[in-house]
Amino acid sequence: MAKFERHIFICVNERPGTDARGSCSAKAGAEVAAAFKRKLYEAGYKRIVRPNKAGCLDQCARGVVVVVYPESVWYGGVTVDDVDEIIESHIRCGNPVQRLVIPDEQLTGLVPPGS
Ligand code: FES
Repeated sequence: MAKFERHIFICVNERPGTDARGSCSAKAGAEVAAAFKRKLYEAGYKRIVRPNKAGCLDQCARGVVVVVYPESVWYGGVTVDDVDEIIESHIRCGNPVQRLVIPDEQLTGLVPPGS
């Protein structure tokens, strides 16, 4: 089997509604994940680009959070309506959708090497 060229991780983490952090599940993470799976298949990326449901990606305030590897592009606030644009611009043409990118300096939980 050939290696996948890319992996797309989509947070579908659930938390109780009382949790102040919120969750991507409450922002339709499962629907975004399903849209990536269906639309990547329809676009011919089966066994080339792999969408995976993910647990918490530690950027909860920015949900729905999506990260694309190997280029390590993090997206926040992703909705079902954004999936076509991410597939066309980023996956097909190699141009991340800048309006949705979480800048590196805004990613939470980064620990500089050697700290
Ligand atoms: S719940 Fe989605 S990033 Fe934490």
